[in-house]
Amino acid sequence: MNAQTIANAGNPEWDDMQVLLRFGLGHLTHASFLLLRVSNRDAARAWLAAAPVTNAVATDPPPMTALQVALTSDGLRALGVAPDIVDGFSNEYVNGMSGDAGRSRRLGDVAASDPRNWGWGVRDQVPHVMLMLYAAPGLLEGFEQSIKSQLGAGFEEMRRLPTSELRSKEPFGFEDGLSQPRVDWERARPVKDEEQYAYTNLACLGEFLLGYPNEYGAYTDRPLLDPQRSGAAMLPRAEDAADKADLGRNGTYLVMRQLRQDIRGFWRHLDREAGGDAVVRERLAAAMVGRTLDGDPLVGRTNDAIAGNAAGAKGDLNAFTFESDPHGVRCPLGAHVRRSNPRNADLPPGKSGLIARLIRTLGFDAVALGNDLVASTRFHRLVRRGRAYGARITPAEALSGALADDESGLHFVCLNANIGRQFEFVQAAWIAGTKFAGMAGEGDPLLGHRQPALDGCPTDVFSIPQPDGPDRRLTALPAFVTVRGGAYFFLPGIRALHYFATA
Ligand code: HEM
Repeated sequence: MNAQTIANAGNPEWDDMQVLLRFGLGHLTHASFLLLRVSNRDAARAWLAAAPVTNAVATDPPPMTALQVALTSDGLRALGVAPDIVDGFSNEYVNGMSGDAGRSRRLGDVAASDPRNWGWGVRDQVPHVMLMLYAAPGLLEGFEQSIKSQLGAGFEEMRRLPTSELRSKEPFGFEDGLSQPRVDWERARPVKDEEQYAYTNLACLGEFLLGYPNEYGAYTDRPLLDPQRSGAAMLPRAEDAADKADLGRNGTYLVMRQLRQDIRGFWRHLDREAGGDAVVRERLAAAMVGRTLDGDPLVGRTNDAIAGNAAGAKGDLNAFTFESDPHGVRCPLGAHVRRSNPRNADLPPGKSGLIARLIRTLGFDAVALGNDLVASTRFHRLVRRGRAYGARITPAEALSGALADDESGLHFVCLNANIGRQFEFVQAAWIAGTKFAGMAGEGDPLLGHRQPALDGCPTDVFSIPQPDGPDRRLTALPAFVTVRGGAYFFLPGIRALHYFATA
């Protein structure tokens, strides 16, 4: 059964949500992203007011094409949205991904990934609107033409980002799209910050949708308007402030980064490290990701049920935590999946009971202390909705050098309600951070830029702990991923989109 044919659970307001958070649109294997600038405000607003945006209502059969509309803060300004309303959105969104050198440094956007080298996403190359078009095989071209023909004088196309046909593997050759948080649509989690002693994959709705309680039991800041204000009557009332109209409700922030992947560089480097031994080469690659090419977690699967995990084939590949591997002997501490989701709880694992918890809380337990250096996962989850682009080559083709050197990579897309606490934290503290889990001198082995940190600390090392001896250390790692563009967008609720277009 396609996920989109499941019954509509009463809550939340599917018809006011764009579809992408609820469904990954995996059946629509073709997609393109149009980056637009507003060239005529009235015409742009007129089109947006009637745009055929796909909402999150489940249909049977599911749609054969889908359109999503996302806007940057520059886009809101270009549409004439009042400055005090734009400023009601989060700081990160208002300032944008590329405008501030400090932010770029924290995100690891330095050297070749410096925004000055980006193809889009900087200054007058910041898009105003992104149209995300998805279609079943054979339908994308016609769908795109029909949408473009409606745009009229309202927009100028800044760039078209094509994607390659959706497959289960990302360009380096690893199984992808395996782990996602399960959104608590039914709002089963209590509306308060209760300490969690076990990893859960279930995440509060408010971690992804504005206008609902998050993991702290609080509502993320967003523009709340006086309902008397022009046009605001069309908006829903805020749950946490009944006298206000909620412009954020049913919307989510969408982070987009174009990440070029050097597939040849990746496999050839590992081949050299492995001395040409194919088994060792694959083992090193798996250590960097934390999963084998087929997606098996290196740490092994656990028999314990993990709350919020889906059952079935892909779910089984997520039945694990790192609790049984505190020193990273099976899955290196710095592996990409361990950095991007350490699968921990609020307290380091250990015996239950007041005294045992107190010992861990105070940091007197040596193993627990190592775990405690990593922040609790549940405040830093991302729903990933990226699509690959460029030519697909297998690891064997990458090694043989037979094919032309086209650019390939990932249009990384993630959804979250708090860019600072979710995407930026994961990217800056866990992926680009040199002190993750108490290590020194390492960045993410897949994504790292390899430039020394501000304090001179190197970042081009990857340690692979060994069961019976010192770590194996890969040094002088080259960068395998380069940022080519990016922006912070807001994917508004449908009523909010109408408000932007008409108020
Ligand atoms: C070209 C760049 C990237 C590549 C090749 C890549 C590759 C992968 C692969 C192979 C997996 C394992 C499959 C899965 O769990 O679905 C994964 C998981 C993940 N990645 Fe990436 N990734 C990239 C960029 C990023 C970025 C920029 C972020 C966040 C800032 C990120 C966050 C995550 C997260 C949260 C997971 C799931 C971890 C888990 O829950 O176990 N990735 N990635």
